[in-house]
Amino acid sequence: MAEKAKMIIDKNVRIAEIDNRMYGSFIEHLGRAVYTGIYQPGHPSADADGFRNDVIELVKELDVPIIRYPGGNYVSNFFWEDSVGPKEQRRKRLDLAWRSLESNEFGLQEFSAWCRKVNSEIMMAVNLGTRGTADALNLLEYCNLDTDSRYAELRRKHGVIKPYGIKVWCLGNEMDGQWQMGHKNAVEYGRLAAETAKAMKKMDDSIELVVCGSSNADMDTFPQWEASVLEESYEYVDYISLHQYYGNRSNDTADYLAKTQELENFLHSVIAACDFVKAKKRSKKNINLSFDEWNVWYHSKDQDDTEMNERPWQMAPHLLEDIYNFEDAVLNGLILITFLKHSDRIKIACLAQLVNVIAPIMTETEGPAWRQTIFYPFFHVSKYGRGTALKSLLSTGVHDTREHAGVTDIEAAAVYNEERDEVTIFAVNRNTMENIPFEADVRSFAGYRVKEYLAMESEDMKRVNSAKEERVRPYKKEQYCMNDGILETVLKKCSWNVIRLGR
Ligand code: AHR
Repeated sequence: MAEKAKMIIDKNVRIAEIDNRMYGSFIEHLGRAVYTGIYQPGHPSADADGFRNDVIELVKELDVPIIRYPGGNYVSNFFWEDSVGPKEQRRKRLDLAWRSLESNEFGLQEFSAWCRKVNSEIMMAVNLGTRGTADALNLLEYCNLDTDSRYAELRRKHGVIKPYGIKVWCLGNEMDGQWQMGHKNAVEYGRLAAETAKAMKKMDDSIELVVCGSSNADMDTFPQWEASVLEESYEYVDYISLHQYYGNRSNDTADYLAKTQELENFLHSVIAACDFVKAKKRSKKNINLSFDEWNVWYHSKDQDDTEMNERPWQMAPHLLEDIYNFEDAVLNGLILITFLKHSDRIKIACLAQLVNVIAPIMTETEGPAWRQTIFYPFFHVSKYGRGTALKSLLSTGVHDTREHAGVTDIEAAAVYNEERDEVTIFAVNRNTMENIPFEADVRSFAGYRVKEYLAMESEDMKRVNSAKEERVRPYKKEQYCMNDGILETVLKKCSWNVIRLGR
C-alpha cells in the first residue's frame, strides 16, 4: 500500500471568502450552444419563449451565478444592434470567427430572459476587434442607462423599460491572438482598453471591467502582454482575464492529470505581473483574476477544422462537441481544487462552455438533454464549495510523469460553510497506479461527522456518457471511518472525492 496522505484543516486558518462567481460559465454564439442548445422552439421541452426546459433544469442544477456572453471569438465581429428589437427585422450576419451564419433570432433580450430563468447574471463582452470605444458605449447605454438619450430610448422602444443593469463587462476577447478579428499588440490593445474603460466608467460607475490577459500560458507574448496591458489600463480596470484549455493529446493519463502544475505556474505568473504593475504604479488597488475560459478542449478539434473549412456558413453547425471521458472529469476536479486554493485572487471563473460546445450539458436535437462526465465535479464544487476556502496542510507522496516532475499524488481543498455548519473536502488521487490511504484531521470542527461521501472512480479512463446512458457518475461511498475528529479512507487511483462533514 502507498504512503498515507495527511491533511490538516482548521476552521480559523483561511484563504478567503469564495466569490460565488467562481462558478460561472459561458455561452457563445458558436455551433449549437444557442440554437438547438438553450433555444429550440418546437422542441417538446420548449417553453413559450422557445427555451428548452430540459436544459434549463440541468443549468439550474449546476447553479451558475454568472454567464459570459456572446463570445469568445464571436464577439470580435459582433454587431449588437442586429441582435435586438423586433425579431422579424433582425438581419443575418456572417460570423467570421466560426465561419457560420448567425440568424440573430436569439439576442440580448432573449439571453436576458433565459438568464432570469436559470438565476444567472450576464457577463457581457464588447467588440474591441472590428469595433471600438463608441460602440461599447452605445451598447452600455442600451443595456444600463435610463436616460432620455438615443440608445436608452431604443431599448425602451424595444419593450425593455427597466435597464438590464449588467455589472461585469469584458473589454474584448483574446486580443493577443493572431486568429482574433482585429488582433492588436499589447500597447495598442492596452491603450484602447484603457480609453474604453475610462469612458464606460464615466457613463456607469457601478460596472466592473475585465481586461484581456493572454489567450493561454503558451502564447509567445505571455506574460509581457499582461504587464504591458496593465501598464496602460491599471487604474480603469478591475480584473484581468485568463484562458486555458487542456487535452490529453499524447494519451498519457498520468501526464495529463499533472497539468494543473502548469496551471499553478500560470496563476503565479499572472498574479506576479499584476502585482508588479501595482508596485510600479504605487497603487493601492489589486487587480483580481477572471479565469473566464477553462476546460478540456481537444477531442473535436480536427473534425471542427474540416467542418469550418469545407462546409462554411452553416447555421448552428456541430462544432466543438467534445465528448468527455472519465479522466477529463478528474482533470476538471483538479482545476477546481486549484481555483479554490487561489480564491483570494480568482473572483470570477467561467467553465467554457455550458451547452453543446465544449460543455457539461449536451442536447439531442430530436431528443433529450444529458450530462457529460465533466458535469459532476463542477456540480459538486458549485453546490458544496460555497463559503470560506480553508488553508490546508497536506503531506502526500509525489511521482514523476513524462513531462512533469514531483507531481503530488493527492490534491485537496476544503470549504467551510458557516451558514450550513458544514465543511466539505474535495480531493483527487491523480496517481494512476496506486490507491492511497488518506487521513484528514478535522478536530477543530468539534462534533462533526461524515454526512455524505461521494466519489467518482473508474477502471476505464475513457468511459463516456451519452444521451442513452450515464456511465460516469458519482456514487455514495461507505468505506471510511471517523474517530475523534480524524477521518480515514482510501482514495482510489484516479478518483474524484467529495467528503461532506457536519453535525
Ligand atoms: O471557447 C471557445 C473559444 O476559445 C472562444 O471563442 C475563444 O475565446 C477561445 O479561443
